[in-house]
Amino acid sequence: MVNIAILGFGTVGSGVAEVIEENRERIAGSAGEEICVKYIVDIRDMPDSPFASRLIRDFSVVESDPEVSVVVETIGGTRAALEFTRRALSAGKSVVTSNKELVAAHGLELLAIAKEKNVNYLFEASVGGGIPIISPITQCLTANEIDEVYGILNGTTNYILTRMIAEGCPFDEVLREAQRLGYAEADPTADVEGYDAARKICILADLCFGKNVDPEAIRVEGISGISLTDVDCAGGLGYKIKLLGRAYRLPDGRVTAYVAPHLISDKYLISRVDGVMNGIVVHGNALGECLFYGAGAGKRPTASAVVADVIDAVKHRQRRRTIGWEPADGNALADARDMATFWYVRCAGSPDVRALNPRRTLERGGERVYLTGSLTARELDAALGPADVRAKFRIL
Ligand code: HSE
Repeated sequence: MVNIAILGFGTVGSGVAEVIEENRERIAGSAGEEICVKYIVDIRDMPDSPFASRLIRDFSVVESDPEVSVVVETIGGTRAALEFTRRALSAGKSVVTSNKELVAAHGLELLAIAKEKNVNYLFEASVGGGIPIISPITQCLTANEIDEVYGILNGTTNYILTRMIAEGCPFDEVLREAQRLGYAEADPTADVEGYDAARKICILADLCFGKNVDPEAIRVEGISGISLTDVDCAGGLGYKIKLLGRAYRLPDGRVTAYVAPHLISDKYLISRVDGVMNGIVVHGNALGECLFYGAGAGKRPTASAVVADVIDAVKHRQRRRTIGWEPADGNALADARDMATFWYVRCAGSPDVRALNPRRTLERGGERVYLTGSLTARELDAALGPADVRAKFRIL
C-alpha cells in the first residue's frame, strides 16, 4: 500500500480524495498497489467531512512521515504551496499538483529539486483540467519538433462567453454561476483578465519549446473588452470570439507567447469549443495538427488528471519521469506586438484605410468594422491614428 497526503482540501483536493475512494480498486489495479490518503492538510475545520479523521493542520507531520511517498498539492497560489512543495520534494517525496500558477512561476526550480532528489514533480492537471495534454506533449509527441501550440485554456471565461452569447446572460450572473460550479479561481480576476490562461500557455510553451517562458513577461489581455456588439458583428462575418493562449516558435528560434481574444472562423473545430470545455491545438512537424478537447475546469475532471499523476508517481518511484525545460536568456522571447496578424477593428472616425489594407469592410451605425490585412500591433495602431477605436481583436 502507498500512503499519500493531500495539501489543501478545496474544490480540487476534495475531488481527489473522492475519486481515490470511489475508484479504489480500479486505481489499485493501475498503480499495482492500493493508494491510501493518510493525511489531508488544511487550516480549516471540517467536522462534517467524511475525511475529517484524516485532517491535520501541520505540514511537518507529512514532511517527516517516511510512510508518505506522494504529496498532492492543491492549495493554489505561490506562498504556502511553494514552501510545502520545496520541502516535500527535498524530503524525497514526489509531488503532484494542479497549481498552474506555481508551475508557471517556479516549475524550473521545483523540477530541479525533483531531479536532484530522484522523485517526480507532475502537473497534468495544471493545464486543460481533465484533458490529457502534458503527458501527450512530453511522451506521445516527443518525435516532433513542435512549432505552435494554442488553445482555449480557461474554462471560466469560455463558460461566461458562451452563456452571454447564447442566452444573453449578464456577465456578473454567469461569473457567479461559474464560481458556484467550482470553475473560477479564488480571485476570478485571474480568469477574467487572462492571467490564468497566461500561466497555462507558458507551461505549454516551456514543454513544447524547451525554454522557460515567464508569465510576467508575456502580453495578456482578458475578456473584459469583448462587447455583445462585437460578438454580433463577428457572428455576422462567420466568426466566434474566444480567449486564446498562443505560443509559437519563430524561424530564428525565439518564442512568442501571449493571451488575447481572437476571432476564429466557424470553419475551425476549435470555434465550437463551448462552455467550460477547453480545446488545445498542437502543431508538430511530423504529426501536423492535433486538437485536444475536454472539460477544462471543475472538481472531478481536474481530480481525474491529478489522480492519474498520483498513479504515475507511484509507478515511477524507482525511475523518475524526465520532464523539464531550460532557463531562457533575455533574448529568447519575442514580443507578440511585433508579430504580424490579421485584425478585426471596430472604430469611428478616419483611420488610414490604405494602411489597414482591409479584406472586408462593414458599415454599422456610425461605425466601421474592418477585417485588416496582415499587420503588427504597432503598424495597426499607426494606421488607426486618430480614429476612435471601439474594439480590436486578432483573427486566428
Ligand atoms: N479557473 C480555471 C479555469 C480552473 O476556469 O479554467 C482550471 O484551471
